[in-house]
Amino acid sequence: MTQPQWETIYKIAQQWTKEAGEQIRTMMGDTYEIHTKANQHDLVTDVDRHTELFFKEKINEHFPDHRIMGEEGLGDEVKDLDGTVWIIDPIDGTVNFVHQQCYFAISIGIFHEGVGFIGIVYDVMADEMFMALKGHGAFLNNEELPKLPNVSMNESLLSFNAGWVLKDRRLENLVKESRGIRSYGAASLELAYVACGRIEAYISFNLAPWDMAGGYVLLNEVGGVMTNYEGNELSFLDKDTLLAANPSIYDDITKRIHG
Ligand code: IPD
Ligand code: CA
Ligand code: CA
Repeated sequence: MTQPQWETIYKIAQQWTKEAGEQIRTMMGDTYEIHTKANQHDLVTDVDRHTELFFKEKINEHFPDHRIMGEEGLGDEVKDLDGTVWIIDPIDGTVNFVHQQCYFAISIGIFHEGVGFIGIVYDVMADEMFMALKGHGAFLNNEELPKLPNVSMNESLLSFNAGWVLKDRRLENLVKESRGIRSYGAASLELAYVACGRIEAYISFNLAPWDMAGGYVLLNEVGGVMTNYEGNELSFLDKDTLLAANPSIYDDITKRIHG
């Protein structure tokens, strides 16, 4: 695909995301249904499904040869990243959406032949759109994000769920040696926060491709590092663990957790 087409897709994806965000803000004022999925931590609402359907209809109409991997399963059954694939989480942070009415995002990663070209993470309530087109830098609304600066562990804020410390006690080293731990409850936003320097690293033990795809493209554009917890490449086809970091503390983190 030639460059102008990517710029067109980038602009259109931003427009659709803004539109979807407006619809979400409107639907929040009405009654909507809430269901649990795998367990009490895993919620889905009518608004998640409505939003995924909105993107599916737009993509099918404008880009009929593109495929869709969406959390709510309204897109295609995607088993490889051949061609162009939109990896969509219509609401990332549904628990926050339901309980707090803030700190949730629409996350989109557009991959072509396995390479991440476009990343969009839109914090719907803060109206903050983090976006990137491969080779063209990452932006927060109209501001270009600088390359990530050098930082040290003791001046870094890290983010992970408290529950992960119970799974791997070595994370206690990070609690002791960093400036502090945060936990926002929306993986895509936490990746966007690493990309813009609000935090220096994000760790998770259980994420799906749609939680990570948008943030991955953002991080690539600012020089961030993103692997699974063991340091291996992510496939964006299966669930995996995650370690995303400012490059200057990535090795420090792996030393403290893997020795
Ligand atoms: C969840 C959020 C959460 C992360 C979970 C995800 P959802 O996504 O990103 O922060 O810890 O692993 O499943 O279900 O709200 O889209
Ligand atoms: Ca998610
Ligand atoms: Ca979701």
